[in-house]
Amino acid sequence: MSRKRKKMKKPVLIFIVVILVVVIILINPITLIAKIRLGNLKYSKESIDKIIEYDLDDKVIKLGYNKTIDAAIKDKNYDKKNFDKYAKIDYVKQDDFIKNINNLLKKKYSVKEINLINKTATKEDIDNILSESIILDIEDYLGFDYAKASNVLRYVAYKEEHDYDYEQVVTFVNIGLDKEFYDEAIEINDFNETMLVNKYRSLPKEYAPDLVTIDSEYSSDGEQKATKDTVDAFIEMAKDMEKEDLHIIANSSYRSYEDQEEIYNSYTKKYGGKYAKEYAALPGFSEHQTGYVIDIANNKHQIFDGTQEYQWLKKNAYKYGFILRYPDKKQDITGYAYESWHFRYVGKELAQKVVDSNLTYDEYYIRFLDK
Ligand code: DAL
Ligand code: ZN
Repeated sequence: MSRKRKKMKKPVLIFIVVILVVVIILINPITLIAKIRLGNLKYSKESIDKIIEYDLDDKVIKLGYNKTIDAAIKDKNYDKKNFDKYAKIDYVKQDDFIKNINNLLKKKYSVKEINLINKTATKEDIDNILSESIILDIEDYLGFDYAKASNVLRYVAYKEEHDYDYEQVVTFVNIGLDKEFYDEAIEINDFNETMLVNKYRSLPKEYAPDLVTIDSEYSSDGEQKATKDTVDAFIEMAKDMEKEDLHIIANSSYRSYEDQEEIYNSYTKKYGGKYAKEYAALPGFSEHQTGYVIDIANNKHQIFDGTQEYQWLKKNAYKYGFILRYPDKKQDITGYAYESWHFRYVGKELAQKVVDSNLTYDEYYIRFLDK
């Protein structure tokens, strides 16, 4: 049995072909494929529509998923001439991110420089940078891990006035040394064995750590106190020194805010303001209030530089977790004259690192521990 096929009439055929062509044009299979591929790259529908609208599908597909591009195409400040640069800029969360990039590019900052700026900058920091003429050596400052975009203009000003290299400039400004001692100091709120207390970083008036009393055999008056770890390390060290017929005691250790006030005032009265400033901290700014400090003397109450005990400590104290906090010739950085007796407990591991670095603790902390 054979059925006779009905032949389509020509106009119907033409009509169907026209409809098909229109449908194909409307759907646009090339666009459809691009959309699928962009979708696979995890671009959202909103982003995909923008990519198609700006005719960027080929470029974006080639690039893969790029968070900065994704942010840029959705942003009202999107500037197509910056596309290739956006693609090389690391995405960061920052108010007006795309607008800031446009402005920095306009100011002739390179992609590399913008990435360095963006590592730590807020919108305000960028506004400050933009308010000045281009900083040609910005990379020399911001190349350090611990550099802060918020300090860039201070770095530039400090560098102009001092004969320091970039590393020193960034370190010193981060410490606060471009300002007077005690100027714009911050109050610490994270208390631990590694905290930095100096003329820019104070403790709350009422701060007091848990303390234990140092055995009277190793104490100037039987009333010296420090944190348990500090005391344990000190006694261990003192006992090891005894094996070499060297003897140390704690001359002054934990001091409360009020104790420090008394000391500062008595130094001022006895020796004058200049001496007091060089050898005593203002209350709240003394490391002694941390409980991690011991002013060491030998058992003849000699302090201390010329003694054999000091020579031993200079070589070995770090093995017990202590560092000399105010070394000779570092007054410009520490804010204090050489104190051969003032040892700070930071724990063995860190003490080793600080000694190896050859830096004051102020510098070491600012470079490696400051969050
Ligand atoms: N002597 C040290 C600097 C202090 O007063 O904390
Ligand atoms: Zn001291």
